[in-house]
Amino acid sequence: MASSFAVCRWTQIFVRRPGGETRTGREICSHQLPLQRENAPQGTHVVVEFANRESVASLLEEAAIPSISHEAVVPFKSRLLSLKKLGSLDSPNQQSGQQCKPQTSIPINELIKRLSREESIDQQVTSLTETYQLTEENSRLRFLVCSLLQDIAAAYFPECTIKPFGSSVNGFGKLGCDLDMILDLDGISGRKAKTPKGGLSLEYNLKRANSERAVTQSILSVIGECLDQFGPGCVGVQKILNARCPLLRFAHQPSGFQCDLTANNRVAIKSTELLYLYGELDPRVRFLVFTVRCWARAHGITSSIPGAWITNFSLTVMVLFFLQKRSPAIIPTLDHLKNLAGPADKSVIEGNDCTFVSDFSKIQLQSNTETLEQLLREFFEFYASFAFNKMSINIRKGKEQNKPEVTPLHIQNPFETSLNISKNVNATQLDRFVALCQESSWLLQQSETNTPSLHSKGGSPTPWGLATLLLPSQVGGIKSRKKRRLEPASVRIKSLLESLKKS
Ligand code: GTP
Ligand code: MG
Repeated sequence: MASSFAVCRWTQIFVRRPGGETRTGREICSHQLPLQRENAPQGTHVVVEFANRESVASLLEEAAIPSISHEAVVPFKSRLLSLKKLGSLDSPNQQSGQQCKPQTSIPINELIKRLSREESIDQQVTSLTETYQLTEENSRLRFLVCSLLQDIAAAYFPECTIKPFGSSVNGFGKLGCDLDMILDLDGISGRKAKTPKGGLSLEYNLKRANSERAVTQSILSVIGECLDQFGPGCVGVQKILNARCPLLRFAHQPSGFQCDLTANNRVAIKSTELLYLYGELDPRVRFLVFTVRCWARAHGITSSIPGAWITNFSLTVMVLFFLQKRSPAIIPTLDHLKNLAGPADKSVIEGNDCTFVSDFSKIQLQSNTETLEQLLREFFEFYASFAFNKMSINIRKGKEQNKPEVTPLHIQNPFETSLNISKNVNATQLDRFVALCQESSWLLQQSETNTPSLHSKGGSPTPWGLATLLLPSQVGGIKSRKKRRLEPASVRIKSLLESLKKS
């Protein structure tokens, strides 16, 4: 099986208590999860979702601390349980043979084969998105991991919440993407003092620190320690406290998620909400973002390792900007969304105006009927000739602006408008992006690329359309556009086949 974690049934299970009372829960039963270490435990994992807290509490009452003779254990009771005696599960509705849904993305060469069987580029784009997007089970698992970590953090801050943000919840998440989380202490620190009565007010006695940043750093530091020492399944905890946005990075082994935990990062929550809103306004937004993200990853334009690469967040903003620039525009500017906002939408975070409308029904879209194929081709053309040297990408205005600084790529942070979200990108990476856009735009104009494959060799259809754009050796870097123009179609098709064989 290609994936190491696949949900194989979603049904009703019954957990029988000794007293005879039956508890029900919805079950996601999975094969083994992606494991970060060779010696990690193997086996089937089940996520059981209960309708109420009491049911969970009654289940936990049944759980025992394991008695391991040769090892010591930290007696921290988490909701990650091991079922030792399978006989205690009475599962009358158990269905075997139900379709497994993969929980990790398929390898790129598999995707290329899948796309090559589609009949239009629009279908290829849709198929790519459906293959890679998060499944409902995977999304639920992400919320579950947040709540398990919240249990640990609650040892210090009982009123805290841990919420997912970023691609886990903004609609652009790909199977296998990291789990970004925010530790929210607003329930505690955001509580305003009541107007004093009779000149007296009651205040908590709190320890003071030099700055908000220092507070965030010390909170994350102790929680990092706690996860490292007591967090079941949390391994490789790194404290990255000196970053612009301090964070903890670790792997959560049972779920297989790579996790980033931040605190006091409310602007990122607003960015997540904004991206979600844009993704919901028109289905073409998500399709195009998924396709461009996948294309970028296939060519090493983006990477999971931090560096001078364009990030997925920047790439998403570039797609949104492009869609704002269509005529008629497919999505509105952020300024327009701000103008539509009601009083309840007002949000100012650390002096940054993060206000935008939350009621989708107030947003009137213009009538644009461009197909996904047209948009994909135009996207590459747009950025192949964009004046990156002079202009900044700005989704607030929906228009390019003069660049305020001399970084190769300038994409204005939608909310912290004095910041550039792509400051890390160097000239080499930008040049690669532009060259790949030129090459991809050119490839999409060629009739051989545009025609669905009719022939298949050894069961593998010949790559065409979007599939061609994802072939690592086909696009970018290896041959100049000029040189490629001179090659006869037969040579290009041969090289396509060879590269597919290698991948
Ligand atoms: P993947 O994890 O690559 O799938 O995408 P992601 O959107 O989750 O990106 P990432 O994990 O890098 O960042 C998580 C979220 O943090 C993003 O969705 C943004 O909301 C926010 N974010 C990331 N980079 C920046 C940045 O440079 N500036 C700001 N303001 N927010 C950022
Ligand atoms: Mg992320």
